[in-house]
Amino acid sequence: MRVTRRTTAAVATATALVMTLAACGGASSGEAEPSLRTHTDVGVYTWWAAGVEKTGLDVLAEVFERQHPDIEFVNDGVTGGGGSAAKDHLQSRLENQDPPDTFLVHAGAELEDYIRDGYVVDVSDLYKKYGLTDVFPEDLIDQLSTDDGKIYSVPSNIHRANVMWANPTVLEANGIDPSARYENIGAFIADLEKLDQAGVTPLSIGTTWTQVHLLETVLLGTLGPQAYNGLWDGTTDWTSPEVTTALENFKTLMSYTNDNREDIDWPDATKMIIDGEAAFNIMGDWAVSAFDEADMTLGSDYVAVPAPGTAGSFDFLADSFTMTAGILDPESTEAWLDTVSSKEGQVAFNKIKGSIPARTDVDRSEFTEYQRMAIKSFEEDAIVSSLAHGAAVPVAQLDAVSQATLKFVGPDGHGDVPTFQSQLAAAAG
Ligand code: GAL
Repeated sequence: MRVTRRTTAAVATATALVMTLAACGGASSGEAEPSLRTHTDVGVYTWWAAGVEKTGLDVLAEVFERQHPDIEFVNDGVTGGGGSAAKDHLQSRLENQDPPDTFLVHAGAELEDYIRDGYVVDVSDLYKKYGLTDVFPEDLIDQLSTDDGKIYSVPSNIHRANVMWANPTVLEANGIDPSARYENIGAFIADLEKLDQAGVTPLSIGTTWTQVHLLETVLLGTLGPQAYNGLWDGTTDWTSPEVTTALENFKTLMSYTNDNREDIDWPDATKMIIDGEAAFNIMGDWAVSAFDEADMTLGSDYVAVPAPGTAGSFDFLADSFTMTAGILDPESTEAWLDTVSSKEGQVAFNKIKGSIPARTDVDRSEFTEYQRMAIKSFEEDAIVSSLAHGAAVPVAQLDAVSQATLKFVGPDGHGDVPTFQSQLAAAAG
């Protein structure tokens, strides 16, 4: 059995307590022995450690403490946007038998490694117990289910990855119509060039994972939803000329980004749009909360549209929570999963997080205009899986893609499209 150091320590303390009480004659025969579980808690691991992400987690923890007042919420996570740094840290905790009770994981292929390595347990019974199969969309249940119909996590929300954010004042000042939509990446590049000529940062971006995020939207915007999905099920050839075009587009877009990209994460890249220091940014819709927090109004103060060439597609990812194998107190973790899946938990959390509830039975009028747009798009558009956020490929493949991206466009990047393409093809196996 795998036990956490935290819970092992708790047991040692409780055992010492029992021994002390026994030595004092406190627990005589026939009397109830003091419980070993004098205190219960749940250690929750996420990378939501700052800004609106932390606020979202705090709000969910508040709902939890209301719904389960006997159990303490313990924030057992780390910093690190996009989960890339956090995933390495989580992996070492899992390998060192020091796991959190529950951890944040993306629905989809990212779960495969954790299931294979036995780090997470099947929670399908909770779906029956809480009636979740009826309230989550079928597509999402499919993403969460293994081939043998088991489910290993509970989703808290659904995010859209293919969103482009823009500052309309910056666009207008440079003769670009803020209501313009880019049906293809070529048209977008023409406006990036215009902004560049005017001395404005055309496209803001951050460190490697945000670049992989851009890469996925460029693949989608160049190939279209069907061929993009084919990259993940083997029906689209990674070595094809269409993919070459997409990678050339990606390289061109990267050439219009800010120089300090390696030093910043998504919040700072988004802030460049908020502060009018850049014109465009492509990021998932957790970014909407940053605009809300800055009291900006959709339409007049900021623009949120599908990334170039991706209208009609919803590039999907869902945050979800596991129950770790071998923990001492699965009931407390079950209580956390109960809150995560509850209507109250999903409404409170998603109002802050900018995502849409995974549950379909919530009152939409509770949500912002942006979120109502996202709900509609999720219902009507082609659903494709996010590469950068664990829906499309297992952790090892994403790691290989990230490494290849770093070598391609990172500091001292080689910039050679054929090399990049062959590394991506190799990563796909
Ligand atoms: C994603 C995650 C989002 C958000 C984002 C930026 O992977 O699913 O909820 O946290 O990273 O940190």
